[in-house]
Amino acid sequence: MIRHLLTTEDMGREELEDLLQLADEFVAVLGRDIPKVPALRGATVSTVFFEPSTRTRLSFEKAAKALSADVMTFNPATSAATKGESLKDTVLTLRAMGADLLVVRHAAAGAPWQVAEWVDVPVVNGGDGAHQHPTQALLDALTLRQRFGKLDGLRIGIVGDIRHSRVARSDIFAFNSLGAAVTLVGPSTLMPGDLTGWPVTVVSDLDAALPELDVVYLLRIQLERGGATVFPSLPEYVRRFGINRERFARLHAEAVVMHPGPMNRGVEITPDVADDPRSLVLDQVRNGVAVRMAVLFRLLVDGEAAYG
Ligand code: CP
Repeated sequence: MIRHLLTTEDMGREELEDLLQLADEFVAVLGRDIPKVPALRGATVSTVFFEPSTRTRLSFEKAAKALSADVMTFNPATSAATKGESLKDTVLTLRAMGADLLVVRHAAAGAPWQVAEWVDVPVVNGGDGAHQHPTQALLDALTLRQRFGKLDGLRIGIVGDIRHSRVARSDIFAFNSLGAAVTLVGPSTLMPGDLTGWPVTVVSDLDAALPELDVVYLLRIQLERGGATVFPSLPEYVRRFGINRERFARLHAEAVVMHPGPMNRGVEITPDVADDPRSLVLDQVRNGVAVRMAVLFRLLVDGEAAYG
């Protein structure tokens, strides 16, 4: 059976820890003078992103190249999709040209699952609508493990637009599987309508929550998914949920701030907090390459996928 990486909801602790341990090894590889290994020589990884990306697409491409794979980048704006070619014909075309693994980002929740039914190679979900972003959760977990040694017992507050966030959905299940306690903080209008089955606590008073948190994980307001339409004004949101120096000072001395990017400086986070030594934002970005190397390696070398 072909293996895919589509969601963290069905990933147990063992699978998550296996990928994090492998990612640790690739962190070491990336620290060498020549940060490259021949593990995927002969394989082709294709990034198929129908939504904009800086971190996810480029780190998958860097990861593939660090494993000596070839990379095919699909750009919808300059592709035959502009002439009406369907998603199905697009991915079948990429496969026919030799893609051995597809990383798919799409505005429609579920699109990577659909792609996985059409192609006979592994598919990685690079973010589908407001649904899932599993490699973001893996790189976040790796970053926290580096900082704290383990996630067991960590108190993580995810703050902001949970309703429209695929990062929140992936992080919540991964963090919970790894032993952390997750609190969601935000206005009720930015919470999902139904939290049944979510292993979380929900609060709305950020100032009261901050002293009890080890990690404050900030989310961008997802303007492209209607996030700004559900609270009175941006200044009102910033007043209640933006992290500034004063709120940062309410955290205990070892607590850290995280953000998946892109940040809206001055909205969910002030520039001084974003650039503070206890902001792990660039560690998250850096770890994205090693985590994605681990995912590509597990799916293409250890999975049953054949290439070359
Ligand atoms: N965190 C994240 O998914 O960033 P990009 O949209 O730049 O890929």
